[in-house]
Amino acid sequence: MNRQHVMISIVDEILYSLRNLAEKGCRGFDCSEHSLSVLKSWARSTSAEPVPPESAAVIVHPPLQPSPCRGDVPRITDSLESIITDMEDCRRCKLSTTRTSIVFGAGSPTASLMFVGEAPGFDEDQQGVPFVGKAGQLLTKIIQAINLTRDQVYICNVIKCRPPGNRDPEADEILACVPFLNRQIASIQPEFICALGTFAAQTLLKTTLPISKLRGRFHDYNGIRLLPTFHPSYLLRSPDKKREVWEDMKLLMNEMSP
Ligand code: URA
Repeated sequence: MNRQHVMISIVDEILYSLRNLAEKGCRGFDCSEHSLSVLKSWARSTSAEPVPPESAAVIVHPPLQPSPCRGDVPRITDSLESIITDMEDCRRCKLSTTRTSIVFGAGSPTASLMFVGEAPGFDEDQQGVPFVGKAGQLLTKIIQAINLTRDQVYICNVIKCRPPGNRDPEADEILACVPFLNRQIASIQPEFICALGTFAAQTLLKTTLPISKLRGRFHDYNGIRLLPTFHPSYLLRSPDKKREVWEDMKLLMNEMSP
């Protein structure tokens, strides 16, 4: 890990904690937006080069406030806006050199259902919104089929920047980005997560089991019920798998019903 990245990681941590304390009304130290932006500027990269992937440290949040969540979910929660602010013009991995936009997420910040996909594709990179291409149109239909709208759920990806040519995300890219996903989940506190495809399911569940073995039942992600299912892009290539996804969506609907 190089010095610059150690600094970015430490400053991220300080910013996160100060903002959280400020939001809770704590006083006695300077946590004004001005001071936070000064702090942030200390870590700003001076070159266009991405921070080397091996230095993409996971942000470990301090135990300032107990939370019902366990494991990787940060023990203090923050607003989606403050997570976006911390990502800023993110250069934590090499995808920053080829992306058009950071595709953070879309939908309700208080959603009880969150869909987590893999990574933005071409259309998402152009528009800065997740799941707006062909796979996204299919996801919209799946959401409508469970009597919800895109505005009622929250949609995001494990990786916030498009891998060139839509290749699979690489380990260092996931490592750099997953702290932001964990913070998004901690902020939204959904009751259910639907993990779309292998990458989302394996990353959130920390397993190497294939999606075919994971789908069809609920798993635990830090106290949140997580249902893996096939990715909409896979359904576009293998339409016969839609039946299994519909079975999964029925499971979800049953559990979500009051
Ligand atoms: N595939 C994904 O996993 N995410 C998107 O946002 C679009 C396509």
